[in-house]
Amino acid sequence: MTGSRAESTLATVRGVAALRARVADWRQAGETIALVPTMGALHEGHGALVAAARKAFDRVIVSLFVNPTQFGPDEDFTAYPRDEAADAAFAGAAGVDLLYAPTPDEIYPDGFASKVSVPGLADVLCGAARPGHFDGVATVVVKLLAQAAPDAAFFGEKDYQQLVIIRRVAIDLDLGVRIEGVATARAPDGLAISSRNAYLSAQERAIAPALYATLMEAAGRIEDGADIEGACAQGRAALIAAGFAAVDYFQCVDAVTLEPVTTRDRAARILAAAHLGRARLIDNVALAG
Ligand code: PAF
Repeated sequence: MTGSRAESTLATVRGVAALRARVADWRQAGETIALVPTMGALHEGHGALVAAARKAFDRVIVSLFVNPTQFGPDEDFTAYPRDEAADAAFAGAAGVDLLYAPTPDEIYPDGFASKVSVPGLADVLCGAARPGHFDGVATVVVKLLAQAAPDAAFFGEKDYQQLVIIRRVAIDLDLGVRIEGVATARAPDGLAISSRNAYLSAQERAIAPALYATLMEAAGRIEDGADIEGACAQGRAALIAAGFAAVDYFQCVDAVTLEPVTTRDRAARILAAAHLGRARLIDNVALAG
């Protein structure tokens, strides 16, 4: 990779044919390719994904597509922030080689009828509150991977359930693409960086870091031998005491199957989702092995 690439104008393609032509040129030159799928509104968290991808691959494609099928009827699809010029500037500065910003028709052409579903993994945790969300995610990710045919795709650990589901799909469907998880990018006070943080008022923003702090406290207690269910119940209560309006879940789960765990005999993670003002914040931490 050359440093000068970051300064050149970043090319954007909107169709599969143009995307594949670019990918074919790179393949011809023997280059390796990574894809970072996004819905735009690029921020430091996406920057961390791009940096990880650049480190290991010759070429990095970022896709920008606000995927309608992963939003519920009462969710923020219409209001979701869209600023392609700002995203292109961010991606260019981060050293991305190509933006793929498909038109909706390139993803969901007339007659599109297929769906990738992962029952079980997709129905728990965030899936319980957002029915159909992960079908939408899995379907669009499979589509983007089929279109770009990268060697690897990079996803943030902040959306841990999404990462687990995409890993499962890649294995189950023999996609032949490495799925890489990247540690959550955080503000100095610990809040996981997310485009939805923009929905927080100043007062809510001051409360929001309690989500990560509470997860870390629960992890520490469990690592010190506390009862897992008790520590999670304490975590839920602590979030309400901190000012969160409601807690959808605060749960310790198997790191691969997402099944609830009550004993420390396997790799596990604590995941939480809680409401603060207009925002529904999610975060998670690993339990030390
Ligand atoms: O994490 C996201 O931004 C989206 O869920 C993804 C993976 C780009 C699919 O639309």
